[in-house]
Amino acid sequence: KSNFMRAFCVLNICHLAFGSIEQIPSPGEFAGRHWERAPLLVRRGDPGYYAGLFSTADFDAILRSGEVQFGTHLDVTSYAEGVRETHNPVGRALPAVVWDFYQNGCSLRLLNPQAFSATVWHLLSVLQEYFGSMAGANTYLTPPGTQGFAPHYDDIEAFVLQLEGKKHWRVYSPRTDTEVLPQFSSANLTQAELGKPVLEVVLEAGDLLYFPRGFIHQGDCLPDAHSLHITVSSYQRNSWGDLLEKLLPAALQMALEEDVEYRQGLPIGYLGYMGVANSDAADACRTAFVEKLQRLPSRFFMTVSPPVLTQSEKQLSVYGFPAQWQDGSPRNVDILITKDTEVRLLRHGIIRLCNEEAGVMLYYTTENSRVYHKEEPKYLEIDPEYTDSIEFLLSSYPNHVTVDTLPCGTLDDKISLATLLFEKGILTTKKPLVQV
Ligand SMILES: *[C@@H]1O[C@H](CO)[C@@H](O)[C@H](O)[C@H]1NC(C)=O
Repeated sequence: KSNFMRAFCVLNICHLAFGSIEQIPSPGEFAGRHWERAPLLVRRGDPGYYAGLFSTADFDAILRSGEVQFGTHLDVTSYAEGVRETHNPVGRALPAVVWDFYQNGCSLRLLNPQAFSATVWHLLSVLQEYFGSMAGANTYLTPPGTQGFAPHYDDIEAFVLQLEGKKHWRVYSPRTDTEVLPQFSSANLTQAELGKPVLEVVLEAGDLLYFPRGFIHQGDCLPDAHSLHITVSSYQRNSWGDLLEKLLPAALQMALEEDVEYRQGLPIGYLGYMGVANSDAADACRTAFVEKLQRLPSRFFMTVSPPVLTQSEKQLSVYGFPAQWQDGSPRNVDILITKDTEVRLLRHGIIRLCNEEAGVMLYYTTENSRVYHKEEPKYLEIDPEYTDSIEFLLSSYPNHVTVDTLPCGTLDDKISLATLLFEKGILTTKKPLVQV
């Protein structure tokens, strides 16, 4: 998480002060306790803390540049007596019109301020690199005594940096399990739909408020002060599910092209024993159907390219084994693995064990061609008594283990398993087996 931690540091715009204020958690604490879990308030008591990042004066200058369009770059909004409204006229957002809306109690949301502000752009570009995910921003200018938006939750991790004035915030936990870390933002909610806030606070210039996606929030201005804040966001559609959503269809398409098993028809009459209606019936056809459904996806794994070996890895694996024809006969042919040979998997991700009807299969990727379409999935059928040893090798990775610690039968069994895996390029040794 080190990049991520640096991102948090940057958000805190840490300088030398970082960590010197008691309530600021360390980046590690933030990652463990707050990120995707709980809001965090950082009170700094330093109104000038974000000076230079963005101001109402910058906003006014941006309006004067004449390039701001209502709707595209700027939203004029209000939320009063439970009614949320957008007041965008069409066309250019000229200062006279914009400031008139503001004087009449409307909030001004500048979208993507990085398009107009070099400092915001710079902050986001740094954050983006650290988070490894798109970073975005909006700025919000709200007149005293008003609220610009209905309560809602978002689909992003939000960092509210209070730039000027004050704002009263209420933050609420996700209401149900399905609203925890939601994929999409909510509609405008009503006050009646909310429970009690988990956090209620008046943010002052220099303060920071973080809340995860799914946390409902609403902010309103006190009668005596306007508010300008920037919300910096990240991690939109950046979950495991989002990754799989992209990977799986491509992998499935490849599998369909490669593997006739994917193209074989479903069993005649399968609707008679599959489906929820039959879920309580013990049925051999159903069991076989489910097993096949579980087994087929594990073959996707075969679409992974083989690992690229370094020179030293090559020397420690079968690929660098010095067997060769020399002076009239083959030399260095025997793979002499003993009980003391130290071994480990070439890579953690190169094997997968699957229990199949026909037996225990060890699928592996070491020999896959880089040109995927030329290769059948590679697997070994292995004796079920070797399952523990394979799992042991997986859990020991990246450490080496000596062959005699493999949890299976006799020493001969251990050596023959290690030799088999070495021959397939799955195992490497700590030292070259043959010194040449
Ligand atoms: C909330 O209400 C405003 C005003 O009607 C509308 O423009 C906006 O799209 C709504 N937000 C959502 C997420 O539905």
